[in-house]
Amino acid sequence: MANKSKFQAIRGTRDLLPTETGLWNHVEEIAHKVFGTFGFGEIRPPIFEPTELFARAVGGETDIVSKEMYTFSNPTGVAAMVRGERLEGTLADMLPEAEMITLRPEATASVCRAYIEHNMQQLPQPVKLYYMGPMFRRERPQKGRYRQFYQIGAEVLEVLRPETPHQFATRHPSQAAPKDAATDAEVIEMVMTFFDCLQLPGIQLNINSIGHNGPDCRRHYIGELHKELIKIKDHLGPDSQRRIGTNPLRVLDSKVESEQSYIDKLPRIADHLCPDCTAHYATLKRQLDLRGVFFKENWRLVRGLDYYMRTTFEITAKGLGSQNAVCGGGRYDGLVELLGGPPTKGIGFAIGEDRLILSLQEAGKGAAPQGRDVYIAWMGERAYATAVRAAKDLRTAGFSVELPPTELKFGKALERADKLGSRFALILGDNEVAEGSWTLKTLADGSQQKLTEPELLEFLRNCKRLSS
Ligand code: HAM
Repeated sequence: MANKSKFQAIRGTRDLLPTETGLWNHVEEIAHKVFGTFGFGEIRPPIFEPTELFARAVGGETDIVSKEMYTFSNPTGVAAMVRGERLEGTLADMLPEAEMITLRPEATASVCRAYIEHNMQQLPQPVKLYYMGPMFRRERPQKGRYRQFYQIGAEVLEVLRPETPHQFATRHPSQAAPKDAATDAEVIEMVMTFFDCLQLPGIQLNINSIGHNGPDCRRHYIGELHKELIKIKDHLGPDSQRRIGTNPLRVLDSKVESEQSYIDKLPRIADHLCPDCTAHYATLKRQLDLRGVFFKENWRLVRGLDYYMRTTFEITAKGLGSQNAVCGGGRYDGLVELLGGPPTKGIGFAIGEDRLILSLQEAGKGAAPQGRDVYIAWMGERAYATAVRAAKDLRTAGFSVELPPTELKFGKALERADKLGSRFALILGDNEVAEGSWTLKTLADGSQQKLTEPELLEFLRNCKRLSS
């Protein structure tokens, strides 16, 4: 139970304490390792970007952009106002669009912006990037849903070279399907491998294709869907009713119980995909089979961001209640171009790290509490000088060491060592120092041994090797 004081973490944000950060670091280390084996390099984009970037990439009608972004004016704009240069209207009216900035609600838009800004189309393609860090959305906080949350994500970007034999699906559908679907499958394989390494329990991969934005594909389907939605409008709640006008596809995402039987009877996009998108989806499924990745098809998986086309996927995990999506992603050919870059294909995902950790903890896979390897119990001035040097040597050798700053009676020191979960206590009195023979006590069984300094280091190294 938290103590009430004047200052508390803001609603929807929280402190991650050392009891948990061990597991967070472990998860992040595995991500670095696994993503590295797939040839991905890390990118660290800034935490805020021009508002317009997200509005354009994610879509003005999405919940994220219309309701959930933390947007404020760039301080230089405020300075101009303070100087009295423009004093009419609201702050947002007064500042040009580019001066409004937003705490990133996601990072795909930032990665695409960086791809353009750093001319990454000149690099060998595709460019494979991953990132991890905080994102911000003003959502209603609940278990697994925060206003500052963390994502681990990855993106694969590939510029369309003029000489490339296949063309862009949104403009010239053609034979790109097999290669792109193989990339989609590999990206999905990577995230599943990562979850496997963490032994994340009860994961379920859902996939779908939402086609491309052509008149013979998704656009036609949306027209058909719209007609059917109008017919059942009175049976839908206010959110779905609003979405009929703004984004009919998103009605499929509804979790409202009373709407389910009506939504289930709506036309399905798989029956309306163009031949290329159909081929892409079929190849994706074959490619996943080839890689031994189990999936479930879910025709209602449309995702809440506007940039997707063709492949969409989501992964759910156990122990998360209603917020059980631990990863979401999909293909977004055309997004880089929408942001002012050259025609480029893209596919990626983001894992909700908070939810991933929660699911691991619920399954009892929390990291063991971080105890110390060695607690140095010292008494006497000469012993202290040796203890300081020993602490330095042991830390350099990679052991975690606790060195009390003041002298404690050995009994008291051993009590503290125990409380800190130390594995060994190194007992250094003036006698031990004079003899050059130190006492190492194993706290689990109380056994003791006399060792010289080199023997001590050798012994500890062997213990570490055996336990790792
Ligand atoms: P997203 O589905 O909005 O996709 O978010 C991905 C994951 O972030 C979700 O599945 C969930 O685990 C986590 N998440 C989202 N909002 C919250 C929240 N308020 N609290 C805790 N966790 C949350 C994207 O962000 C896309 N950029 C993914 C992507 C990358 N698509 C292509 N590339």
